[in-house]
Amino acid sequence: GAPVEVDIGKLAPGEMMVVEWRGKPVWILNRTPAMLAALQKAEPMLADPGSTVASQQPAYAANATRSRVPEMLVAVGICTHLGCSPSNAFTPGDPALGADWPGGFLCPCHGSTFDFAGRVFKNKPAPTNLEIPPHRYLTDTRLIIG
Ligand code: FES
Repeated sequence: GAPVEVDIGKLAPGEMMVVEWRGKPVWILNRTPAMLAALQKAEPMLADPGSTVASQQPAYAANATRSRVPEMLVAVGICTHLGCSPSNAFTPGDPALGADWPGGFLCPCHGSTFDFAGRVFKNKPAPTNLEIPPHRYLTDTRLIIG
């Protein structure tokens, strides 16, 4: 499939857009400072906080935010368990997920949860963190996926 160019200039902090790449939904989330802080809070609760599985992200995204630009999450929105779409972002402390829930995503099929970097929480059916697709920035506002 061809690379996809995306204009992210109008994506405000806290907003997420979804684009299609190779038939897959790719999330682009402009993370707020609170969302970035939630990544650190989540770390002790994660199965693979250091993103050690090489197939799940390019080497340039094997870092604390799993991204090239700290604010910008670019992730394939397909659950690594059986392929459902964990498209709902939940806010910290959501009553459905408990007071210590730092925020992130919930897969409706079997309850896997992911933080704002797509890292899976411990003891969930999803075996790995969400996939980070190859991507790069032409400018601050022009993103290429693929
Ligand atoms: Fe997401 Fe099973 S497909 S938890």
